[in-house]
Amino acid sequence: MRPLKAEFVKSASVVSQCPPPNKPELAFIGRSNVGKSSLINMLTGVKRLAKTSSTPGKTQLINHFLIEDHWYLVDLPGYGFAKVPIKEKAKWEKMTWDYMEERENLLYVFVLIDCRIPPQKIDLEFVYRLGTKGIPFKLVFTKWDKVKPLKGQKNVNDFKMALSETWEILPEHYITSSERGLGRLELLQLIDEISESS
Ligand code: GTP
Ligand code: MG
Repeated sequence: MRPLKAEFVKSASVVSQCPPPNKPELAFIGRSNVGKSSLINMLTGVKRLAKTSSTPGKTQLINHFLIEDHWYLVDLPGYGFAKVPIKEKAKWEKMTWDYMEERENLLYVFVLIDCRIPPQKIDLEFVYRLGTKGIPFKLVFTKWDKVKPLKGQKNVNDFKMALSETWEILPEHYITSSERGLGRLELLQLIDEISESS
């Protein structure tokens, strides 16, 4: 599959600095190091579009990428990184929640979950908060190439089970590996449907 036309537009620390809200927009969120920036590179097929790092805490601002001239993908800072000072963490948290609540052209948030580990309280709480605020989201499990399929599937099932304690209708989920390109087609198809229907 060919790479998409993709260009970095700008980094913002508040919603008012983001590009004009005149195109369909999808954002990627999840724990630090879960693979948000890597997934953006994998989906677009442009290797170093979003900056990645093996050290958590790499993405620190709201980064807009214009794709195929008509929609935005947004890379956000991660949550739950223990080594960031509390004040800095609070700043990132406020920045991302303000963005998710206020950005008028934001159609969906993709919440990334590491499929190698059992359900984490911090992810479940994050998803719960999205739900209570009525922010539409999908789940994307990452790093599938790093787990044995049976274990990965159990972690995915357990996460959805944990959610079903609170929610009657569960969000759709996708399985991905940025390393292998797994899930690219399905996610691009979904993004197409979402942005066409907006
Ligand atoms: P922050 O910006 O710090 O919040 O992190 P992030 O969620 O953007 O993660 P990033 O994309 O920078 O990836 C973190 C590390 O995980 C990097 O070393 C990536 O190469 C690695 N990684 C990301 N996705 C995958 C994947 O699907 N498979 C494997 N094996 N490694 C991955
Ligand atoms: Mg990042």
